[in-house]
Amino acid sequence: MSKLTVAVIFGSRSTEHDISIVTAIGSVIKPLILSAKYNVVPVYIDKQGRWYTHPKLADIALYSSGQVEPFITKLRPLALRMGGQLELISGSGPKPKKIIKVDVAFPATHGTHGEDGELMGLLEMANVPYVGCSLPAAAIAMDKALAKTLAIAEGILTPKYVWFYARDFRSDQAAILERIKDLNYPLFVKPVHLGSSIAISKVGTAKELVQAIEVAAHYDDKVLVEEAVNNLVEVTVPIIGNETPRAALVEQPLLNSSNVFDFETKYMSGGKKGKTSASGAQGYSKLPADLPPKILQLAEATAIKVYKTLGCAGIARVDLLIDTKTKLVYFNEVNPLPGSLYAHNWRQAGVSNVQLVEELVDLALLRAKAKEQLTTAFSSSYLKQY
Ligand SMILES: Nc1ncnc2c1ncn2[C@@H]1O[C@H](COP(=O)(O)OP(=O)(O)O)[C@@H](O)[C@H]1O
Ligand SMILES: [Mg+2]
Repeated sequence: MSKLTVAVIFGSRSTEHDISIVTAIGSVIKPLILSAKYNVVPVYIDKQGRWYTHPKLADIALYSSGQVEPFITKLRPLALRMGGQLELISGSGPKPKKIIKVDVAFPATHGTHGEDGELMGLLEMANVPYVGCSLPAAAIAMDKALAKTLAIAEGILTPKYVWFYARDFRSDQAAILERIKDLNYPLFVKPVHLGSSIAISKVGTAKELVQAIEVAAHYDDKVLVEEAVNNLVEVTVPIIGNETPRAALVEQPLLNSSNVFDFETKYMSGGKKGKTSASGAQGYSKLPADLPPKILQLAEATAIKVYKTLGCAGIARVDLLIDTKTKLVYFNEVNPLPGSLYAHNWRQAGVSNVQLVEELVDLALLRAKAKEQLTTAFSSSYLKQY
C-alpha cells in the first residue's frame, strides 16, 4: 500500500504565527517523518495568507535565521483544487507544475485564520480528512463567551461573567457598566477571541475596569468581563479522542509574579525555574499538578465534559481554574490546538510523539469515515416544478 500523504498546515495570519511554526515542525512534522508511515508535506501559510510548499519549509533553521521571507519569494504560492478531494498545485518559475493529492490534512495553526474553524471549513468543503476539532467546535472554542454559554447550559461551572459587543460599550457605556455591577472585584477583562493573554487585564476598581475594557475593545469586537477565581490553582488538561476522549496528565502551569499566565511566561521562559516538565513552549509547569487526588479527578472529569459538550474531536486542551479553598473547579477555556500538541505531557502519560501523531491521523480518518456514513443525498421532485 502506498503511503498516506499528510499535509501539515501551519503559520497563517495570526499573532501566534511563530508559535505555530514550532508546533508544526517540532511536534508534528518530525514525528510524522520518524513514524515512516507517511509522505509528509509541509504547507506554510505566510503572514499575508499565501500558501507554499517546499521540503525546505520543514526546516526550523529557515525561520530562526529570518530567511523564510526571501526564500518564499522564489516560490509560487500554491493553488488549491477541490473536487471530492484536496489537491495542492505547486511549481516555481519555468518548472512544471506539481500536483500533490492530500490524503489527510494536519492543521498546526494557532489563533486566527487557522485554529478558529476557518481552515477546518475549507477542509470540510474539500472533503479531506483532517486532524483535530471540526469547524463548529473550533469556532466555539475560540470565542470565550460562546464556549462559556454552552458549558453553563450543560451544567459546567464557570466564573460569573458578562459579555458585550465593543460597539455597544462605545455607544452606551453606562448600560454595559450597569450589567457588570453585579460582578465582584477583582475582575478579569478579556477580548473573547485572542490567546496568549494579549490585552487581558485583572482590575480591582471601576476606573481600571473602564480602561481595561477600552484596551480589550481595541483588539476585539466582543469583550468578556468575569470574576477572578480566588485561591487559584490553574490547571490544563490535554485530551485526545473522538467519541471516547481520554486525558493526559492534569498539568499545572506556574504563574509569574503578577499571577497571570502571560505570553512571556508561556513561551519565553520555558524550563528555567521550578519543577519543570520540558524545555521550550509551555515547559514551565508541574506535571502532574500538585493537588489532592479528588480534585485531580474532578478536574479531569470536568475537562472531558467540556470537550464533549463543545464537540471537540482529535485533540484539544481544556484549561480550568481551581479555587483550592472551596475546591470548586471552574471551566476557563478550550484550546483546539494545544501548543506543540502538549507532547511533553503525553510523553509523561506514556504516549510518545510518534504514537501521538499516528493516533491523531487515525482519529482523523475514523471521523471522516463516520461522516461518510451519514446520508447527505436526498432525492425529491422539488426541481420538477420549475
Ligand atoms: N477568572 C479568572 N480568575 C483568575 N485568573 C484568571 C481568570 N481568567 C484568566 N485568568 C488568568 O489569566 C490568564 C489568561 O487568561 P485566559 O482566559 O486563559 O486567556 P488566554 O486565551 O490568553 O490564555 C489565565 O491563564 C489565568 O492565569
Ligand atoms: Mg489561557
